[in-house]
Amino acid sequence: MSEQIRVMISEQEVDTRIAELAAKISADFQGEEILAVAILRGGAYFCTELTKRITVPVVLDFVEASSYGNETQSSGEVKITKDLKERVEGRNVIVIEDIIDTGRTLSLLMENLKGRNPKSLKLCTLLDKPDRRVVEVPVDYNGFRIPNEFVVGCGMDYAQRYRNLPYIGVVEFE
Ligand code: IMP
Ligand code: MG
Repeated sequence: MSEQIRVMISEQEVDTRIAELAAKISADFQGEEILAVAILRGGAYFCTELTKRITVPVVLDFVEASSYGNETQSSGEVKITKDLKERVEGRNVIVIEDIIDTGRTLSLLMENLKGRNPKSLKLCTLLDKPDRRVVEVPVDYNGFRIPNEFVVGCGMDYAQRYRNLPYIGVVEFE
C-alpha cells in the first residue's frame, strides 16, 4: 500500500507557532533554569526547535515511556523504558511531547515525575487531539489543536517514517 502526505500545517506556520511558545515559556521562567525533558522519539524534533528559541538557561534530557493498556482499558501501566539522567527534585521541569492523543502515556509519566518533587512541572505539546482524550491531562503550552486525523512530520511518524518532514501532514492512503 502506498500513501500520500497532505499538508495540514505548513513549515512556516509551525516555525511561527514554536517561536511564540518559546517566547511565552521564556517570559514565564524569567530568572529561572528549565529542565527540558523530551519524550522519545517523537518529542525530540519539537524539543530542539523549541529550546533553541528559549532565552533562559535550559538543560536537556530525554525519557522514553510506553503505556501498557489496551483500547478497552481506561488506564494502562506506564513503563519508563529509558529514564532521565538528570535529577528532577527542585528543578523547573517542562515535558515536551509531539502530540497528545488519548493522554494515557502522558498522564502516567507526569504522575511519575511529580513524585520526584520538581520545583514546577509543566507540559508542552506541539499538537493536541482533544477528541481522542481518554485520560485528562493538563496541557500548559499547546502549539495547535487538531481534528482527529493521523498526522506525521515534526517528529511524528507512520511506521517510523516521515518524522523528518518540516511540516505537519496527514497520511492519505490510495
Ligand atoms: P497517548 O496520548 O498516550 O495516546 O499517546 C500519544 C502518542 O501516540 C504520541 O506521543 C505519538 O507517539 C502517538 N500518536 C498519537 N497520535 C498520532 C498521530 O496522529 N501521528 C503520529 N503519532 C501519533
Ligand atoms: Mg510519542
